[in-house]
Amino acid sequence: QHFWLHGPRSGPAVEFSADAGMWNVYGHPELHEVLGDPAAFSSDTMRVVPASMMPSKDDFSLDGFITQIDPPEHGKLRKLVSSAFTRKVVADLEPRIAALTHELLDAARDRERFELVSDLAYPLPVIVIAELLGVPSGDRALFKRWADALFQSDAKVSVNRPSDEREAELQAVMKPWKEMSDYLAGHAAQRRRQPRADLLTRLVEAEVDGERLPDDQVVNFAILLLLAGHITTTMLLGNTVLCLDAYPEQQDRARADRASIPAVIEEALRLFTPFAALGRATTREVKLGGVTIPADQMVMCWLGAANRDPRQFPDPEAFDPHRDPNPHLAFGRGIHFCLGAPLARLEGRIALNILLDRFERLRTDPDDPVLFIPTPTLTGVRRLALVRNL
Ligand code: HEM
Repeated sequence: QHFWLHGPRSGPAVEFSADAGMWNVYGHPELHEVLGDPAAFSSDTMRVVPASMMPSKDDFSLDGFITQIDPPEHGKLRKLVSSAFTRKVVADLEPRIAALTHELLDAARDRERFELVSDLAYPLPVIVIAELLGVPSGDRALFKRWADALFQSDAKVSVNRPSDEREAELQAVMKPWKEMSDYLAGHAAQRRRQPRADLLTRLVEAEVDGERLPDDQVVNFAILLLLAGHITTTMLLGNTVLCLDAYPEQQDRARADRASIPAVIEEALRLFTPFAALGRATTREVKLGGVTIPADQMVMCWLGAANRDPRQFPDPEAFDPHRDPNPHLAFGRGIHFCLGAPLARLEGRIALNILLDRFERLRTDPDDPVLFIPTPTLTGVRRLALVRNL
């Protein structure tokens, strides 16, 4: 029944929610349009969130975050960070990701229960990113605490929230945020003095057309890697195993034909879209899906819903890795297309291959119910125990 997590959608592709004070876009062609038009649909959503809802800038700011920036600044920043975080840097991680996956599975060997999320899917991506950045992976308990604090909110998606409710939520987020920024700023400053062979050093030294990343940008990007690149990949791994458990014939196929694993991962991303929603803000009046959205409105882009739009995906609730093409929007689209997609796909492919090697059968434990993250904008398992046959 997990496959009905959100239920099939019927109803308009674009609609206004008076309750939340924002527009919801659910349709695939409509989202394709929104994400492809950053001039009309800005990523700088803070411009439509009332200042009274934001904490003081000294403590917390999304200013300058690559995901929030529009052209032309976005292009410059993206070029700089991409010059440090290249496909080659990612591809070179393959043996290390495989070794870490084996290490984590070995460490869980004697545990009575194998719980995929805490034993593998949660630690693997955070260790990979910590090692990539060059911060001690021994500090990963810190990253886990920060990521938990920043993601465990089951906040409603709305700009019409009572300010005290919003304030309490922001307070809970600000402390870990500040700790994380200070921690990464310390490491970045240290790399300026003493370069090393790591991504933080490459970010500090990156130069395109005579421009370099200022310190706060290095820190922002590192934070984004730790947050955006961690929990999403955790969800990807858990969700993929969930799909293979629910569709045993697809598991047999993937086991027999390992070259089909990338397609399995893409289909799991479509059906269970980790970042189920993104925010945009209109810069002018726009027509979308036959509806007129005024300027300066918050627009929620429901990637998860678009990925189950029957106009684009026949039998959208079925897990079918043979969809070809599979134009899901799980990594977004256009200028902000996920910069970490190659890393997420690589980790997914390696971990799944090794799980298939080491488990005769990937089967969820019927005595240990699968749990999902209780946040409407995130779609992913947070607990998934497997029957042990390591
Ligand atoms: C952007 C999803 C893994 C780094 C995005 C966006 C999506 C997304 C939907 C677009 C945001 C927007 O348009 O507003 C995912 C999913 C992942 C994943 C589903 C895993 C399954 C990663 C990883 C990293 C990463 C592993 C890095 C280590 C980024 C960055 C951006 C981004 C830096 C911003 C790009 C830009 O604004 O130009 N991701 N992501 N992501 N992602 Fe990922």
